[in-house]
Amino acid sequence: ESGTADNTLVQTAESAPAIRIDALIERLNRYGHAYHVLDAPLVPDSEYDKLYRELEALESAHPTLRRADSPSSRVGGQISEGFSEVTHAVAMLSLGNAFIDQDILDFDQRVMDLLGETDIDYSVEPKIDGLAMSLRYENGLLTMAATRGDGNVGEDVTQNIRTIQVIPLKLNGVAPAVLEVRGEVYMSKAAFEAYNAKMRASGGKELVNPRNAAAGSMRQLDSSLTAARRLSFFAYGIGEHSAPLATTHSGTLQQLKAFGFPVFDGVGTATGAPGLLAYYQTIGAKRAALSFDIDGVVYKVDRLDWQQELGFVSRAPRWAVAHKYPAEEAMTKLLAIDLQIGRTGAITPVARLEPVFVGGVTVSNATLHNFDEIARKDIRLGDQVVVRRAGDVIPELARVVLEMRSEASLPVAIPTHCPCCNSALSKQGDEAVWRCTQGMSCSAQLKAGLRHFAARRAMDIEGLGDEIIEQLVNQRLVHNQADLYTLKLSQLAGLERMAEKSARNVQAAIEKSRQTTLERVLFGIGIRDVGESTAKILARHFGNLTAIQNADLTTLQAVPDVGPVVAMRIVEFFKDPRAVAVLDALRAAGVSWTEGEPMQKIEGTLSGKTIVLTGSLSKMTREKAQAALEQLGAKMSDSVSKKTSILIAGEKAGSKLAKAQELNIEIWDEAKMLLVLGQDEKS
Ligand code: IVH
Repeated sequence: ESGTADNTLVQTAESAPAIRIDALIERLNRYGHAYHVLDAPLVPDSEYDKLYRELEALESAHPTLRRADSPSSRVGGQISEGFSEVTHAVAMLSLGNAFIDQDILDFDQRVMDLLGETDIDYSVEPKIDGLAMSLRYENGLLTMAATRGDGNVGEDVTQNIRTIQVIPLKLNGVAPAVLEVRGEVYMSKAAFEAYNAKMRASGGKELVNPRNAAAGSMRQLDSSLTAARRLSFFAYGIGEHSAPLATTHSGTLQQLKAFGFPVFDGVGTATGAPGLLAYYQTIGAKRAALSFDIDGVVYKVDRLDWQQELGFVSRAPRWAVAHKYPAEEAMTKLLAIDLQIGRTGAITPVARLEPVFVGGVTVSNATLHNFDEIARKDIRLGDQVVVRRAGDVIPELARVVLEMRSEASLPVAIPTHCPCCNSALSKQGDEAVWRCTQGMSCSAQLKAGLRHFAARRAMDIEGLGDEIIEQLVNQRLVHNQADLYTLKLSQLAGLERMAEKSARNVQAAIEKSRQTTLERVLFGIGIRDVGESTAKILARHFGNLTAIQNADLTTLQAVPDVGPVVAMRIVEFFKDPRAVAVLDALRAAGVSWTEGEPMQKIEGTLSGKTIVLTGSLSKMTREKAQAALEQLGAKMSDSVSKKTSILIAGEKAGSKLAKAQELNIEIWDEAKMLLVLGQDEKS
């Protein structure tokens, strides 16, 4: 910011305060827009605050000089008596809904038929899940903000709307005499989380979801309460206007952006039904990673003269349609809470639900993580609950619908004993998890341990599925992983629903797994907190099992990626005679793995890079690609974070890609990866 504007503001004349106020408002509004709308601050916060305080002081010394577009008019504080009615000059309509691809093909066909045209261009936008708002500007100044109401008559919520920082109080550039901007008021996921965290800490009332929060905020009579919710706004169209802004809808949105309104970055145009469906996919893949909730996308015929020609049916335009995504939340009944026992003995409560369609799939179970969560959410059997499934994440039980609770309902008791072996459960320190400590003498833990051992990424025993493991343990044929290697064919063939041929196949798969690698054994044996990649690092670093077994805490912590907790888990594991006995028994049963000297750290072109692979590759398997990248020194990781150096995105990459884009992480496609690996067609 150069000082030129400032230098002209030497306070000499009588009019000095007015001139100074004008200049301060201009600068503060410009800085505010850069900060809130463009996400690109021009000056440090302290500079903004300093100018703001100066403005406040001038305004209180000269109340007659207060201006309607002053940022000080945003703070709220005045208590309204109620909301007066506002009649919309141009009605606020709703949109027809489409759910399946065929609906979109039909929509496009109808538009083509009515217009007698083909290859229609559409403006494409997300459908933000918030509250519709009409903002009236007269000669560039915000004069009125009204809710949609019944579409014809809404309520005046101007005082509340002023507190939304992204909404301009004055338009940039040359404004028409009258312009109503239509758009959606919403609460970002981050603002929602932050608000609720604050409420939890202070014992205040938490908000249910961002949509309700936005709607509820508009009904506050004290606008300082609205200000505390940190709401946002996206513009998606116009109502009454004294002059058109453009000849297309997408042009209108660009002009709104130029006036200073937030317009979603992902708006654009698409041609014909294929273009619309592609947009639906693109935004759908990004949905979970967006910073706000959307419930669909909206397609609008782009040419305004064509919109006119198409007109309306009842309350919805013929030229637009909302293409909805599957709802992310649904209500259902909690039937029971089952206890699942993991391979490390952790007891996880799982909610059994009346099946409900949510997030595009039918859900009948949801994780509850631990008993603290059950208590915190006050979950009771028989409750009506809200199930949430966003993106490809595991369904969760979001909250209880208290209004529908029966008075007889009782809180869920925390179990004191293992539901499988009946031993007393224990809980370590401030951990939230209760555990059964019986190891593999608890058959539930044994089963989970065997499933993990046989998994593809561990010992890779094909065909040794849940049902077989269940029977092997129940019939006391297997007491630990090593027992698998001494099973007789007749024992396998004697299991229920097991034909002789399948028994042979399972036995062959067990045989095949005898020759394996150290990292597979380390991962498969089930040391707490030692996942596939830690197992790999340990195997590489130490070279052989004895070295790992003898390593102390300090030695282990010297290994890259092994922290104090993992080091402690490893030491604890090898201190347990039961665990060591199983490893000895595996060796005795003829299981062998590659062992050697500790390996040198791999140095290569990708040393120091943390890489995430997502989507599907066409030229090689993910396992091969991963191994090849590691050969060049890369560290592979499963999740995208600020620490990720490169994301390799194959076909159909989804939320990880969106997240990487958001974090500005370098992104490679498969071709680029092959080039770096020296495996492109040319080489
Ligand atoms: S256009 C005549 N565009 O969805 C067309 N609406 O059922 C009027 N909404 O209440 C709406 N995002 O609040 C349009 N990009 C978008 C939208 C959008 C969200 C809301 C809007 C309206 C409802 C339509």
